Amino acid sequence: MTNSSVESKVWFTEVGPRDGFQNWPQPVSTPVKLELINAALTAGVPRVEVTSMVSPKWVPQLADAETVLEALRDGGGDVLERVRVLVPNLKGMERASRFFDDGLANVLVNVGVTDGFNRHNLNRSVEETLQDIGKVVAAAAPKKVRVDASVSVAWGCPYDGPVAPERAVALAQRLADMGVAELAFGDTIGVAAPAEVRRLSEMALQVFAGIDVAMHFHDTRGLGVANAQAALEAGVRLLEGSIGGIGGCPFAPNSTGNVCSEDMLAMVTDLGYQTGIDLDRMVEAAVSLERALGEKLPGKLHLAGPAPWLAAPSAAGGAMPA
Ligand code: HMG
Ligand code: MG
Repeated sequence: MTNSSVESKVWFTEVGPRDGFQNWPQPVSTPVKLELINAALTAGVPRVEVTSMVSPKWVPQLADAETVLEALRDGGGDVLERVRVLVPNLKGMERASRFFDDGLANVLVNVGVTDGFNRHNLNRSVEETLQDIGKVVAAAAPKKVRVDASVSVAWGCPYDGPVAPERAVALAQRLADMGVAELAFGDTIGVAAPAEVRRLSEMALQVFAGIDVAMHFHDTRGLGVANAQAALEAGVRLLEGSIGGIGGCPFAPNSTGNVCSEDMLAMVTDLGYQTGIDLDRMVEAAVSLERALGEKLPGKLHLAGPAPWLAAPSAAGGAMPA
């Protein structure tokens, strides 16, 4: 049971290779992406979101999606069992299906709460995207592929304004009814504050008792880690972050700064939760990434390093919940 406030384990998903690089202003080479993915996996991150099967015209930064997955597959081991891939529609699902026999078994669909964001992000109304998602879920079932769903602009939309928690939960309910395994609420433009995060978290955990509830914060206004703490206190046990704090959504203006994985994980560890992740290795990964990208990254911890008492990996580890 992951949605339990007494559970001391926190499940973390590293989204930097997907959500970070999709918004990087310069092209990033496939080897740099692979190095980051492998570094996160080696650090003990249970699940890494490695790429998107989206239109290369819309997101040219991730045009090498198949090459990334092929390299991970050819690297051996169970790597593809620990990764997730974003698919926006049936075409994305068909591209991903090439890797199902190699172990890929987890995809992510995305829909915004508002038509304004959804049209900019996916060129569809919310209703049209829900239809697309229905087709993805139907295609996944016979393959036993886990479909998780991300609910974007869950607190506010750059085009349509504030979003009430009831509205985000109502959309999530439509996804739950389709049979998704996980609901990740995204603060796409970083407008949430801890009290609002607590409210939506408590509501979602109550309504979706049988489904994994995750939170995906952006640090656009400096509240990413505080929001993650509020979610934890409300009982959420699945968090997402991006190494070095890179990235954001190209279709939401000023959606800079996914919450920085290692900064957030330091808080999570300090509060006594177990993640199974070696924080030192995450910091090393951020330092290497900064060097490879040749740009200062927005995260903090990689500049100073973790306090020594935070450095030891916590006891728990392993795969994401089934
Ligand atoms: P569209 O132009 O409406 O697509 O785009 P279409 O169905 O009309 O097809 C047009 C062309 O795209 C065709 O090619 C299709 O084959 C192709 P053409 O005939 O012109 O050569 N196409 C595809 N190609 C590759 N893979 C596909 C695919 N589908 C169609 N899957 C589409 C619709 C959804 C494809 C487009 O809008 C798109 O790719 N959008 C990008 C969405 C995206 O990646 N957004 C960022 C991720 S979401 C996010 O960051 C938020 C999150 O982090 C949480 C949070 O922070 O809130 C998850
Ligand atoms: Mg995001």
